[in-house]
Amino acid sequence: MKIFRLFIVAFLSALFLMSCSKDKLQQTEDRQMNAFIDDLMGKMTLEEKLGQLNLPSSGDITTGEARSSDIAEKIRDGKVGGLFNIKSAAKIRDVQKIAVEESRLHIPLIFGMDVIHGYQTVFPIPLGLSCSWDMELIEKSARIAAQEASADGICWTFSPMVDIARDPRWGRIAEGSGEDAYLGSQIAKAMVRGYQGDDLRKNNTIMACVKHFALYGAAEAGRDYNTTDMSRIRMYNEYLPPYKAAVDAGAGSVMVSFNEIDGIPATANKWFITDLLRNQWKFSGFVVTDYTGIFEMIDHGLGDLKTVSALALKAGTDMDMVSEGFLTTLSESLKEGKISEKEIDRACRRVLEAKYRLGLFDDPYKYCDLKRAETEIFTSENRQAAREIAAQSFVLLKNDKQILPLQAKGTIALVGPLADNRENMPGTWSVAADFSKAVSLFDGLKNAVGNQAKIIYAKGANVVDDPELDARVSVFGKPTQWDNRPKNVMIAEAVAAARKADVVIAAVGEPAEMSGECSSRSNIDLPENQRELLEALLATGKPVVMVLFNGRPLSISWEKAHVPAILDVWFGGSEAGDAIADVLFGNVNPSGKLSATFPQNVGQVPIFYNHKNTGRPLAEGKWFQKFRSNYLDVPNDPLYPFGYGLSYTTFEYKNLNLSNPVLTKSGKLTVSVEVANTGNYDGAEVVQLYVRDLVGSVTRPVKELKGFQKIFLKKGESRTVEFTLTEEDLRFYNSNLDFVSEPGEFKVFVGTNSDDVLEAGFVLK
Ligand code: BGC
Repeated sequence: MKIFRLFIVAFLSALFLMSCSKDKLQQTEDRQMNAFIDDLMGKMTLEEKLGQLNLPSSGDITTGEARSSDIAEKIRDGKVGGLFNIKSAAKIRDVQKIAVEESRLHIPLIFGMDVIHGYQTVFPIPLGLSCSWDMELIEKSARIAAQEASADGICWTFSPMVDIARDPRWGRIAEGSGEDAYLGSQIAKAMVRGYQGDDLRKNNTIMACVKHFALYGAAEAGRDYNTTDMSRIRMYNEYLPPYKAAVDAGAGSVMVSFNEIDGIPATANKWFITDLLRNQWKFSGFVVTDYTGIFEMIDHGLGDLKTVSALALKAGTDMDMVSEGFLTTLSESLKEGKISEKEIDRACRRVLEAKYRLGLFDDPYKYCDLKRAETEIFTSENRQAAREIAAQSFVLLKNDKQILPLQAKGTIALVGPLADNRENMPGTWSVAADFSKAVSLFDGLKNAVGNQAKIIYAKGANVVDDPELDARVSVFGKPTQWDNRPKNVMIAEAVAAARKADVVIAAVGEPAEMSGECSSRSNIDLPENQRELLEALLATGKPVVMVLFNGRPLSISWEKAHVPAILDVWFGGSEAGDAIADVLFGNVNPSGKLSATFPQNVGQVPIFYNHKNTGRPLAEGKWFQKFRSNYLDVPNDPLYPFGYGLSYTTFEYKNLNLSNPVLTKSGKLTVSVEVANTGNYDGAEVVQLYVRDLVGSVTRPVKELKGFQKIFLKKGESRTVEFTLTEEDLRFYNSNLDFVSEPGEFKVFVGTNSDDVLEAGFVLK
């Protein structure tokens, strides 16, 4: 016993010493960095300091032209701090050379890019990735993205996007992790770890930029860039946690959002940037605006460029993306006494610190090794990982009579506007992808069946009927392949293919650019003409499997009622087609779970699982009760709840057990449940734990996710899954915005989705 105690003491002392020496090391490094930056800033003119705050877009620089471009001139003059969306190590090397060899102080540039869900190897869109509920895989996807991007010259990514979104009309819901703050926070941390690794100075890690700070996902009416307005208590409990989680995980930079909050655009919102982010959360990195964020404050109605630039700097914004407001107006504002030199110095220092932390002062070309660019990008290993991760993101929404998995035999009719479209597979924000190399569903099916089955292809429908709308959703080189034939001719061709087949795969949904930035929709049904195609296919009596491509939850009530099998595949990335085939043919058993609620119709929006109860809740199982909170024309229930997703096998939950009916402030509660694989396939299941705080000083949600575990069970296998709850898990922000727990009764729920749960109770003392 004594020896054991001695051992523990020795072990703890070693840990303590290690942490002290780590702290010491950090302090020494910080001292060195500060001395270096003091010295450098001592030599800088005001213009050069303002130059560091300037982040233009690369425009159309191509290799060779870099030296003569407009931007090159500015770089020589020390008027540029960084560039973004310039692609290739060779071009970046060229441009870096100008900064390092031809500008007066030789300060290297920082190179950013929207590496959002992969670089050239593209992973599923973030909304899809989040449906994997697999933190290791999500981290791995970010790690691979960082490796590839850094091999091509990039050292800074504008990711993760952690905006909570509860309104699927908003197209940018595709870029985030859905509606839940807890799941969103876990993913935010995993992404930052993946990008930044354990050492930002390595040449294969890149700096993360958490965006869009803040509340961008709560745009009124789901219309992009629109106003947001919400109470502090909602913001702290339901919207801010993922940003904070990313900051706590060490993200090196933060991007402020376009929207206004409390009447002040985020770009100039001192409360958000300085009081909350810097003072409360202790964020020590730098803050960059979104694209023309400063300039846009003129239209917001806050004044001319000079006025809004000064406002942004004073609020705590450090770097100006594209507006050139800092570069062109701050010296005048300084002369007029509207801003201080200290404020400029503060911003300049933060940008220089980021460059120092990345190791750019030691070696400005550390990301420009052309050999790495040739050998480390779009490798077969990375593509294999993307294929595996994509398959984990798909959500099986319906599978009547076990139509799926399919057998690779007989004749398969492949129909639909997204069946043979490589360009649309990577989804929104895949700026570094080579679309021609993406695997379409048609490619994937052919690869999977070889000559074991015959595939007949027919397009069947355009993505939409209206050519003007079609043009609006193919702006960025992801063509929808508009077909001029009349609708009925295309449908007839598809029906003829279906008649000859044993099974029909209908690849329908949204094209990639129907979600993402500036892609809001007021109607989130499947486009009418695609519905008509489905109707015609179903009328043949052949089994129809709907493979749904989408960047948002859709109101597919009709499809749920009529189509026997629905697999939601989002936009699966460069390997989408192979990954979909893996799941369709059962090589991979689907296990994705929704991270955002599917509404029955758009009128239910915003609809999310962790809502409040109201004083007039509807009785369970009822559609309508007079003077209760409900709709006349649609039930309150969602079409598919948060956390929902089927498998080819079935899982049974039983024996929910709590280690104790009481949880004390310093104690632990073990929640256990038995999960059995009762079907015919091996498979993975995401076991979800929710709690409800029954009585509080403020009203609490009807359910809140507090834990999840993704487990794998062989057919016939069962396992006891355990979660540990402590008082900390039950904390929330109260009316004073203190993060507290309150003693009293709680319910705990464990199950396969947010609706289908076992239930128990405990008391917090
Ligand atoms: C988007 C950001 C993006 C930036 C740079 C903006 O339009 O809102 O998410 O990082 O452009 O490309």
